[in-house]
Amino acid sequence: MPLTRKAYRAAILHSIADPAEVGIEASYEYFEDGLLVVDGGKISALGHASDLLPTLAADIEIEHYQDALITPGLIDTHIHFPQTGMVGAYGEQLLDWLNTYTFPCESQFGDKAHADEVADIFVKELLRNGTTTALVFGSVHPQSVNSLFEAAEKLDLRMIAGKVMMDRNAPDYLTDTAESSYVDSKALIERWHGKGRLHYAVTPRFAPTSTPEQLTLAGQLLTEYPDLYMQTHISENLKEIEWVKELFPERKGYLDVYDHYKLLGERSVFAHGVHLCDDECARLAETGSAISFCPTSNFFLGSGLFNLPMAEKHKLNVGLGTDVGGGTSFSLLQTLNEAYKVMQLQGARLSPFKSLYLATLGGARALRLEDKIGNLQPGSDADFLVLDYNATPLLSYRLKQANNIAETLFVLMTLGDDRTVQQTYAAGALVHQR
Ligand code: GUN
Ligand code: ZN
Repeated sequence: MPLTRKAYRAAILHSIADPAEVGIEASYEYFEDGLLVVDGGKISALGHASDLLPTLAADIEIEHYQDALITPGLIDTHIHFPQTGMVGAYGEQLLDWLNTYTFPCESQFGDKAHADEVADIFVKELLRNGTTTALVFGSVHPQSVNSLFEAAEKLDLRMIAGKVMMDRNAPDYLTDTAESSYVDSKALIERWHGKGRLHYAVTPRFAPTSTPEQLTLAGQLLTEYPDLYMQTHISENLKEIEWVKELFPERKGYLDVYDHYKLLGERSVFAHGVHLCDDECARLAETGSAISFCPTSNFFLGSGLFNLPMAEKHKLNVGLGTDVGGGTSFSLLQTLNEAYKVMQLQGARLSPFKSLYLATLGGARALRLEDKIGNLQPGSDADFLVLDYNATPLLSYRLKQANNIAETLFVLMTLGDDRTVQQTYAAGALVHQR
């Protein structure tokens, strides 16, 4: 990793607060001619080029990007690494989609050569799309997590992942047992959690595929290691919700299942939450838990429309998830394009600055990492992107008509995708060059 100082000059934009809390104008900082100074993998200064240039040592290297915007690296709070090979599978809603496409695809990840190959493709794809941190589901096989963390470690990425725990209601070739899931998760935690910039997430797939014994042991792991993450799915699909009621008749509802087994908390991230009620949002917020809003997946699997205003009302932490392979794109820019439409369909708006927040600082807050990632404050990890205003002929022409940074940002999120990401930097190192 480069321990040298380097400066990057371009337009620079980052989110510094939630627009829902402070209003749009106070939620961001924009430097039309900005300078970002990186030292030893961290950001050491950010400001107007005119203010900072005179303070720099004479020999510091300065990279000057024209027609480009520097932003923090994007944060994907929900994605499945072993579903890379089945993204865009036709015709089903959640439960049939899992049985028809997902489980057969995930069955291959006990094989190290296969897991290594897909881990390499997956990490490259994240970086091509400007995602520098993700909260990732592995498969049931510990090997899937080893392969992913090995690929992430080589590039010193800040990455969070866990082995899926599922001991019922899935094919025999893909189930563990309560006991083996506990032992295997523990071994992965001991090996990886806190190593470099890697973190472990206890990962019960969703309530229907875990016995009460397994959920109890998942909760026990969280008590044994207090700074672990927990990730799972909740209230995505109506048939799924009915099934949870049948499987756990003694519980008040879907969230209450997870609450009962002590899976809520400040590092707990629940994907989807499309059909959560007010009381459930309030309880999630009270426990410091977060939701991953996954719009492309919710459209693609016909799940429904996430109610972001309700989450905001409860001051619930919300991050943005691609949910590949239920989601159809690795691009968080394209995910924001869909998020805007989700809000339009509900008669609401999604300002470009709220979108920026969701994909950066909001995700960092959902993961309790806002002192490290999701913004460009000095002291943060130097995880950042260079977005190219001339990535495509249409983008180039359209952005010439933009009158201000709000319009530029909105167009980048509407027309932008992996082609827009010109460079991705992680811990100050160039990890993707288009
Ligand atoms: N619920 C349980 N497993 C999954 C999964 O793999 N993808 C999605 N979208 N929902 C799930
Ligand atoms: Zn998912």
